[in-house]
Parts: sequence; structure tokens; C-alpha cells
Amino acid sequence: MNDTKHQGLEGVVAATTRLSSVDGEAGELLIAGFPVEELAPRATFEETAWLLWHGSLPTADELDAFRRRLAGRRSLPAATLDLLRAAARRRVPAMDALRMAAGTLSLVEGAGEPREDALTLVAAFPTIVAAYWRLLREEEPLPPREDLGHAASFLYLLTGEQPATERARGLETYLNTVSDHGLNASTFTARVIVSTRSDLISAITGAVGALKGPLHGGAPGPALDMVFEIGTPERAEPVLREKLARGERLMGFGHRVYRVRDPRADVLAAAAERFYRNGGDRELYELARSVEATALRLLRESKPDRRLDTNVEFYTALLLHGLGLPTELFTPLFAVGRVAGWTAHALEQLATGRLIRPQSEYVGKRGRRWVAVAEREAVTV
Ligand code: ACO
Repeated sequence: MNDTKHQGLEGVVAATTRLSSVDGEAGELLIAGFPVEELAPRATFEETAWLLWHGSLPTADELDAFRRRLAGRRSLPAATLDLLRAAARRRVPAMDALRMAAGTLSLVEGAGEPREDALTLVAAFPTIVAAYWRLLREEEPLPPREDLGHAASFLYLLTGEQPATERARGLETYLNTVSDHGLNASTFTARVIVSTRSDLISAITGAVGALKGPLHGGAPGPALDMVFEIGTPERAEPVLREKLARGERLMGFGHRVYRVRDPRADVLAAAAERFYRNGGDRELYELARSVEATALRLLRESKPDRRLDTNVEFYTALLLHGLGLPTELFTPLFAVGRVAGWTAHALEQLATGRLIRPQSEYVGKRGRRWVAVAEREAVTV
């Protein structure tokens, strides 16, 4: 390939969308026209999902009906629960359990109709994640309640306790913040799958697989581990220097599109700050701030031409930890938020998109001749 800028499809526009706009130079994220900092701390998750699917905010009546429809879809098919039980017995990582369970949502009544699938996926993801976490801890999954909002319902399903309003609000702010983000790898995956006129359950199952990797949604756990490993502000510099010298990437920093600070980091930092101010582990918050400052200074020193800044994952880790959520659930929770965007993109792709089918440049051998098995020489690779 002569033009290396297309490696990893960097800079290539592969779809038009009304869902979100990511300006990497200005550090701006618009979700259906709203700056993320305007929308995320105010909207309920149901409002965000509606906005993404319909393009405008719901009226009071629409919201009420939509809430009830979503809440009515929280229960899982018996086969999904059986699968989660089998996965928990083998201690499968939570993202793999979510990916396997997502596929079973084709068993839900009405599956195959795109808008019905979108509702099922958004409603069922929190139930799957919470049920799986309980099974891993040898606790029975709880039957979903229909009277709670989306975020509060997840926290209830996880712990069996109705969460305080500010805890549900903190989680809701997080879910809104990550609900959509242009043509990131997992959203692209969903659009590619549905561009063949495949169904939404297949598309979103593929997207979960793409999100799992540490270069995409798998970073917040390691980002928090890094803060814990550092332990005290004075250790930040030597530990981070050593990591960079070993050629390691600092988790929670750098982004394919943002060349300045990820605007989502600010929304989540503000939400985390509120939490840690009101009794959370203030020391951990201060430590994370100092790790961030040191990491940015060292990244500027070691990669002066790359403009690496804080990404969404660093403060995701801090906020979700502050909400009392276990590290193993950070990436599944990313999926619980992003499934609103994935389904919206899949619906948009079905309505307006074309089959996504790029090309590759062949750089392998040519003109080879068949050699019978007995005459082949071993090739050491
Ligand atoms: N720490 C140290 N060095 C880094 C980091 C980092 N976090 N990020 C990029 N670099 C370096 C690379 O090593 C590379 O250096 P080189 O040119 O000397 O080889 C250079 O910067 C460019 O890196 P690319 O791989 O071209 O950056 P790319 O755009 O492909 O990757 C990515 C972006 C994957 C997010 C990267 O910055 C990274 O690995 N960050 C850490 C993991 C992380 O935080 N992931 C979450 C991303 S946010 C999200 O997906 C929701």
C-alpha cells in the first residue's frame, strides 16, 4: 500500500451519520447535536437512547411509554440464564459471557425485526451483566423490577439494593458519555455486519467482540490497576518511566482521533470528583490526578510528535470504581452504554447505508506451482 495513511483505515470516511460527531483537533464530541458535556450529566439513559434512535428528545408522554417498554424487556430467556450459569462455572471473563449471551437474544419473541431487536438489546444488556456477576459470586440472579430507571435497575440487579439517587445518576452520566462515538472499531463492526442486511443481534454480538480488546474498550481495568500499582504520588514518575522504557503503552492515554484531551474525560472527571468529594476514597482520586499529570508530562517528553492526551478510559476507571463497581465489569458496562449507539448505527446503516466492502492490497507471492506432499520441504517460521 503506497498511502500508509489508510492502514487501519485512519482518516477514511466510510459512512455518513447523524448520530455523533468527533472533532479530534477541537476535542469536541456532539451526540445527535448536543455537546457531550451538555447531555451526559442531565439526560436519563432512556432519553439518550431515544435521542439516538429518533433524532430528537422524547416528550414526557413518549418518554413514559418508552421507559415502560424498555423496562418490560429486562427479563432474559431461560436459555440465556442457562448459558450464563455454564459460563460462570468455567469462570469465563465477563465480556465473553456477554458476547455469548448477546447471541441468545435471538430467542426473544419478535426477534429479527430491527427496532424490536434494538429494544431487547438495550434492555437486556444490564440484566446479562448483573446476572453474570452474581453467578460468578455464587449468588442467584435477581428478577428485574420494572419500576426503576435503566441505571438504577442495573445497580439493583447487581446488589439487590435500590441505589441512592446520586449513585444511579453517576452511572447514568457514564452510560450517556459512552453512548456513541463516531465510527469507532466496535460501531464499525456493527455497521459492517448489518450492511450485508444481516440482523441487529448478529451485528451487536460482533460489536461486543470488537469492544473487548485492550486497544478499544478493555483499557479502564488496566488503567486503574496502573494507579493502584503506583500507589503513592512519588512513585508515579519512576514507575511510568520504567513502563515507557519497556515500550509499554500507558492505559488511559492516547486516541486514534483525539489529538487533545478527550472531552469525555472531563465529563467523567467531574462526575468522579463529586463522588470522591462526598466520602469516596479522596486519596485515590488525588493519586489518580497526580498519575495523570505525570503520565502526560512523560508522554510529551518521550513522544513529542504524537500529542498523546488523557482518553475516556482513565476517568471511567476512577468513576466506576468510585461507584463501587468491580474492575471486571468496566468493559461490560461500556457495552451497556454503547449498545444504544451500536443499535442506532445499525438502524441508520439499514436505512441509508451501502454494503461496506473495502479492498486489500495483495503483497504475497505470485505464480507458485503445486508441490506434492511427499516432496515438500519443511519451512521454519
Ligand atoms: N502510551 C505510550 N505510548 C503510546 C500510547 C500510550 N498510551 N498511545 C500511543 N503511543 C505511541 C505508540 O507507541 C506509537 O509510538 P511509535 O510511533 O514510536 O511506535 C505512537 O504513540 C502512535 O501510536 P499509534 O499506535 O499509531 O496510535 P493509534 O492511533 O493506533 O492508537 C490507541 C490509539 C490504541 C488508543 C493508543 O493510544 C493506545 O494503545 N492507548 C492505550 C490504550 C487505551 O487507553 N485504549 C483506550 C482507547 S479509548 C477507547 O477506545 C474508548
